[in-house]
Amino acid sequence: MWRFYLLSVSVVAATQMQYVGATGCDIVSVSSPSASTLEVEWSNYPNASHYLLDLRVVNSTTVAPVVVMQQPPSTHRLVQGLRPGRNYKVTLKVFSFFNILCTDQELTMTVPATSQITGFRPLSSTSVSFEWSSVIGADHYILFVEELFGSQKYNQTFTSVSLSGRMDGLSPSTTYNCYILSSNSAGKGAKGRIKTVLTLVQPPTGVTLAVTSKSSARVSWSPVDKVLLYQVCVSDVDDASNGPVTKNTSNTYMDITDLQPCSNYTVGVSSVNIFLLPGEAVNVTHSTSPIKKVTWVSVDYSCSNGMAAVTWDAVFGADSYIATAVDGTGASLTCSSASTSCHIMALKCGENYRVYVTAVSDDCESTSDASYLFETVPCAPVQLLASHECFSNMIVFSWQPTNNTLYYVASSQDNTGQVIECRTGDDMCYFTNVGCGQFYTFHVYAVSSECNSEVSPPEFVRTSPCLPTNVRTVAECQSDTLITTWDSALGALSYTVEADGNMGESYNCSSSSNSCAVTGVPCGEHLSVWIVASNDNCSTSRVLGEVAQTVPCTPTNISASVQCSLDFATISWRSGNGAIFFIATAEDEDGKPHSCRSMGTSCVMEGLSCGRSYTAAVIGTNLKCNSSRSQEVSFRTGTLHHFLQQWFSTFFGS
Ligand SMILES: *[C@@H]1O[C@H](CO)[C@@H](O)[C@H](O)[C@H]1NC(C)=O
Ligand SMILES: *[C@@H]1O[C@H](CO)[C@@H](O)[C@H](O)[C@H]1NC(C)=O
Ligand SMILES: *[C@@H]1O[C@H](CO)[C@@H](O)[C@H](O)[C@H]1NC(C)=O
Ligand SMILES: *[C@@H]1O[C@H](CO)[C@@H](O)[C@H](O)[C@H]1NC(C)=O
Ligand SMILES: *[C@@H]1O[C@H](CO)[C@@H](O)[C@H](O)[C@H]1NC(C)=O
Ligand SMILES: *[C@@H]1O[C@H](CO)[C@@H](O)[C@H](O)[C@H]1NC(C)=O
Ligand SMILES: *[C@@H]1O[C@H](CO)[C@@H](O)[C@H](O)[C@H]1NC(C)=O
Ligand SMILES: *[C@@H]1O[C@H](CO)[C@@H](O)[C@H](O)[C@H]1NC(C)=O
Ligand SMILES: *[C@@H]1O[C@H](CO)[C@@H](O)[C@H](O)[C@H]1NC(C)=O
Ligand SMILES: *[C@@H]1O[C@H](CO)[C@@H](O)[C@H](O)[C@H]1NC(C)=O
Ligand SMILES: *[C@@H]1O[C@H](CO)[C@@H](O)[C@H](O)[C@H]1NC(C)=O
Repeated sequence: MWRFYLLSVSVVAATQMQYVGATGCDIVSVSSPSASTLEVEWSNYPNASHYLLDLRVVNSTTVAPVVVMQQPPSTHRLVQGLRPGRNYKVTLKVFSFFNILCTDQELTMTVPATSQITGFRPLSSTSVSFEWSSVIGADHYILFVEELFGSQKYNQTFTSVSLSGRMDGLSPSTTYNCYILSSNSAGKGAKGRIKTVLTLVQPPTGVTLAVTSKSSARVSWSPVDKVLLYQVCVSDVDDASNGPVTKNTSNTYMDITDLQPCSNYTVGVSSVNIFLLPGEAVNVTHSTSPIKKVTWVSVDYSCSNGMAAVTWDAVFGADSYIATAVDGTGASLTCSSASTSCHIMALKCGENYRVYVTAVSDDCESTSDASYLFETVPCAPVQLLASHECFSNMIVFSWQPTNNTLYYVASSQDNTGQVIECRTGDDMCYFTNVGCGQFYTFHVYAVSSECNSEVSPPEFVRTSPCLPTNVRTVAECQSDTLITTWDSALGALSYTVEADGNMGESYNCSSSSNSCAVTGVPCGEHLSVWIVASNDNCSTSRVLGEVAQTVPCTPTNISASVQCSLDFATISWRSGNGAIFFIATAEDEDGKPHSCRSMGTSCVMEGLSCGRSYTAAVIGTNLKCNSSRSQEVSFRTGTLHHFLQQWFSTFFGS
């Protein structure tokens, strides 16, 4: 029943049988003994009439499948004509005549095709480089290098992306058989064709170089067994444009000539094998000596123009010379010349210079060991400070010490042009006996063994003003003002006048001319007057002037008494301060004046007319100034009748 079913529904059999085949068909193994074959082995299937193997390259539509038939009882088959290094799908179909009994499938791969060494090159006595061909389906390439007349074998595995490589660690002058194996998961491909390679000869040992002249040398070495020829290669290390020079010799030495001065050379010696291939070189380096150095340097320093004339001895082969002067800070000045002297300009002051000379030939230089030391003229002193205390008669002038200095010359010059000099090894001078009211100008310069430094910029000091003289004070008679005058004092820029009263009060004024007015002073005072003169920095002590007297005070409490007299009146007042005597004046209605004077507090005014009205006032005077008029007082002289009344009452009672 079941088989019948299969027979009748043969269209679907192929797919159905896979399922069924799992119970009966079985590919036991597939291997790839060579790049174009697969060996398939399967289990025996009873009742099979024949087996069919179908092999297809996976995913390929361009390669035709390979189909082979195998008669039982054999259950294995070597399939030929396959593509190397490909993935194959192997299908086993078991037939009973026209019926497919079952099928089985395996995925497998053929080993890669044979890779061949396409090129090789001995690199040295111990290494050889190889190149090989690429083959499809190879995962790796294995390079084999095997000694022809010995037992040493080397191999090295490269991934499929490398198509070249090198084998190191070989022996010199030895013949090797070399080949490549490609490999993938199915196994190794066939061995490529064997190439025979001879490693190069090792270089000689004991290579030494002896200088034979300024431009030549002899390089020599120990002989190498069986080597008939050596190669010597000379190259200029610093100048690649000057290509290497290669020469052959069968001797164990070679003379090298035409060496440039001042150059570094590499000399390589290698052994040449019987095929005239040189092996690797053993290198020695050789530096040719530079041109000779200048042996002496001399400098003639001229301090007056800040210039140094440098001279030196000539050196054979030098095209030019450079003289360099280096100061203490490392800054340098140079001059150059093709002869044996040049001038270095613009030297700094106060420096110690070291001068050396470099001889130049092409690109070759040699700097003298000899040098010359000299010091330049001191710089003008700086950080000047002239200090003066107001009440002192001394000025201290100081500065910062300079280099290369023997001593200093400092000078002061006053208003009148008089100069005083001070020579000192210190960094300061004391100028004594300075005058008042002077404006001093100071300078200093340093003296060295040869030239003096420049003179410093000026430094100024103004001394205290002189004392004012002839101080006089007068009262302004009309006001509360004192005018003080004096003779101008040398060096004074302003004056202050102070007037001190007896009550402890003090008044002042200031001025830049030679007078000033003290205001607000009281009447009738004697004041002590002081004056002080000042400049920007200093004031003098107080100078006492003449005593000042202010306007006499105005008399007060004026009264007049006519008593019993007809032609006189007594005027009384209260004394004002500062008056020496008083003058009372009176006028009648017609303006006729009368007066009397007294050093006391009343006086009698005579010659009046009886029965008239008078107006009286009093002034005080100190002879220089009059006080202002007192308040007025009015009185009237008596009549005769009045007089008689008084007279009677005096003699007879009232
Ligand atoms: C093989 O054939 C015989 C008779 O022809 C039958 O009896 C037997 O079952 C068959 N075996 C299989 C596995 O089909
Ligand atoms: C074949 O093709 C399928 C689908 O494109 C892919 O998954 C598979 O890896 C391929 N097989 C090989 C062996 O290239
Ligand atoms: C490669 O060389 C190593 C030892 O150097 C050896 O063990 C190995 O078997 C060699 N490989 C092959 C494929 O001959
Ligand atoms: C040195 O020998 C090699 C090998 O014979 C040759 O190629 C080369 O030209 C020779 N060089 C000189 C400078 O003779
Ligand atoms: C030669 O080599 C030395 C040391 O490497 C180097 O100081 C010198 O400058 C080189 N000479 C020339 C001319 O380049
Ligand atoms: C020797 O010198 C040559 C040329 O300068 C250089 O290519 C080579 O690497 C050097 N060999 C050694 C061992 O230093
Ligand atoms: C003086 O000489 C010293 C040392 O050479 C240097 O450091 C300094 O700057 C010099 N001073 C002056 C004012 O040149
Ligand atoms: C006044 O004194 C100051 C500091 O005390 C000083 O710098 C200045 O030079 C002095 N002026 C004069 C004119 O002396
Ligand atoms: C001058 O007088 C004024 C007012 O009385 C006072 O303030 C000032 O201190 C006085 N000046 C001096 C220098 O005495
Ligand atoms: C002076 O006059 C005033 C008022 O005018 C009065 O107060 C005072 O007592 C008088 N003094 C004398 C000594 O008469
Ligand atoms: C003061 O007054 C008297 C009398 O009036 C007069 O003669 C004299 O000139 C005056 N003196 C002054 C300084 O004004």
